Order: sequence, then C-alpha cells, then structure tokens
Amino acid sequence: MSFPTHRPRRLRQSAAMRRLVAEVRIHPADLILPVFVREGATEPIPLQSMPGVVQHTQDSLRSAAAEAAELGLGGIMLFGVPETRDATGSASLDPAGVLNAGIRAVKQEVGDSLVVMSDLCLDEFTDHGHCGVLTADGVVDNDATLEIYGRMGVAQAEAGADMVGPSGMMDGQVVVIRQALDDAGHQDTAILAYAAKYSSAFYGPFREAVDSQLTGDRKTYQMDPANRREAMLEVSLDLDEGADLVMVKPAMSYLDILRDVAEVSDVPVSAYQISGEYAMIEAAAANGWINRDQAIIESVLSIRRAGADSVLTYWASELARWIKEGRL
Ligand code: PBG
Repeated sequence: MSFPTHRPRRLRQSAAMRRLVAEVRIHPADLILPVFVREGATEPIPLQSMPGVVQHTQDSLRSAAAEAAELGLGGIMLFGVPETRDATGSASLDPAGVLNAGIRAVKQEVGDSLVVMSDLCLDEFTDHGHCGVLTADGVVDNDATLEIYGRMGVAQAEAGADMVGPSGMMDGQVVVIRQALDDAGHQDTAILAYAAKYSSAFYGPFREAVDSQLTGDRKTYQMDPANRREAMLEVSLDLDEGADLVMVKPAMSYLDILRDVAEVSDVPVSAYQISGEYAMIEAAAANGWINRDQAIIESVLSIRRAGADSVLTYWASELARWIKEGRL
C-alpha cells in the first residue's frame, strides 16, 4: 500500500467538488424570519443593537412578509410591540392588538405561500416584562399563565396564524394550548414548542427590540445553561403534550443540545439563532474583525449541521437572496 492511502483533500480541490460533497446545505425553505411589529409606528424604527433589523409598521411588515414569500422562505415568526401594557398582558388577547392585527395583515398578504407563525408569550405585553402573570408575592404563576396562553393561542389562530410558538417555558403550556385550540375548532393550527429554551444573556438585544420592561431575570422558568440532561426531559414532555415541532434556543452556545434533540425527536427540530448571536457577528464585522457574509453562512451551517431542520434567523431573507443569486 502506497502512502498516503487516503487524500481527503481530493474532495476539497474545487468549489464544484466541495459543493458536490457538502453534507448540509442552506435552503430558503428551511429558514424562518423573525419580525417585530410595533403599535403606532408610522415608519420602520431601526434597532440600535441589531443593525439591519427594524420594528415594523403594519405596512412595512406586509412588505417584509411579501418579500419572504417571494424568496421562498419556510416561515415568518411575528413578535408584537404594544403601546400599552398591564399586569396580565391583556393586549395579547385583543383581536385588534398589535400582534393579532399583524398576523391578520401578514396572512392576508401571503396566504398559504408562507407559514405564518406567532410568538405566544406574555413578556411583550406585561408591564413587569415576565412571560407570565405574577402571584401577590411576585412569583410567576404557572397555571394562571396557562389559562391566558390558551386564550392567546385561540386569538392568534383566529387572526390567521398557521403555527403558534409558545416561548414562555411554563410547564404544561403545549398541552393546554393544544386543548384550547382544539376546543375552538383549530385542530389544524400547529404548535412549534420552544422546548429547550435556556436563560441566556444573548437575548439582550431582543429586549430592546420588544421594549422589554423586565428587571431581573427569567431563571425560574427558562433553563439553566449548565444543564444538558434536563433538555431531554423538556423535549420529551413537549412531545408527549403534542408539539408538532420542537425548538432549541439559543442556537450557537447550545449545539450539543441541538444534536441530542435531533437524535431523539420524531418531529422536526428547529433552532433559533437569537438576537445576541446576530448582534455579535454584526458588531465584529462592523469593526472589520471578521468577514460578515462568511461568518453568517458558517454560523447557520453549523446550526444545520448540528441537527436543525429549520433555523430562525434574522438573516433569513438576506441568505435566501444570496442563494437566489447563486452566491451560496
Ligand atoms: C419571549 C422570547 C424571547 C425571545 C424570543 N421569545 C426573549 C426572552 O425569552 O427573554 C428572544 C429572541 C432573541 O433574542 O432573538 N417572548
């Protein structure tokens, strides 16, 4: 046998060869674009900590959705930024509230050409910024919150959401929302469960994006970054409760979790490349410290490679455009 017997470099010698043997690809249909819609906005408001991302008006939201559909994205995930907030987040239930109105506008714009998804959580709507309602002692009240989540799911389905995304990490949220949807005749509204969602510093820029009123943290309901085994418990509970898809979030610091989940899940697995992941790459690139486009592609590829079938990323439309232009 002559040395060397294997020359792995053979398959790396040209772009064509590398493309042929690439194990994962990024396809527009695997990408989901998260968007923010702000009540009362008369023009799109740029977010300082997320350069390139805006809080949309209802009109600019429609255009973003139309563009996403045109680019062949898999879905669009809506977050609402209300003008007024209260202790129970009641604007989330108002059919004319900013999020429900946004869902209705987007659904009208894109019809069935794009999966319309909505964040199902109270933090954008409460004046204390927590994902649920509080007890008299100021503790997040799991079961009282579930009752509101159920009604919120129905309101979103009625507005036209194809899929709801419960992101509050309350115990039992998937089954309660499923039951509420079914009771209201929305058997076909799907649930994308934020199954393994960690309490993360990388949500920082999102808090600006939704004008979060939170002081303190979410450590009593979101997962501890130290835990891996617990993610499997969260995922199996959500699967038992009827989740149609499960998600891991954040993505890049949790690729091991994503791999674990992808190995056991019998439903599609999603991962959310969150605001802080976006901001870090944009900031480093703005300083000329990394190549922006290559870093974006590499980061999303790593998430796909770890096992995500679909990826929520603020670069979804831009990536799809690159793919269309044959740059990727
Ligand atoms: C909660 C929610 C959050 C994000 C999505 N849904 C914030 C949080 O849990 O504090 C974060 C998304 C991001 O950082 O991009 N409704």
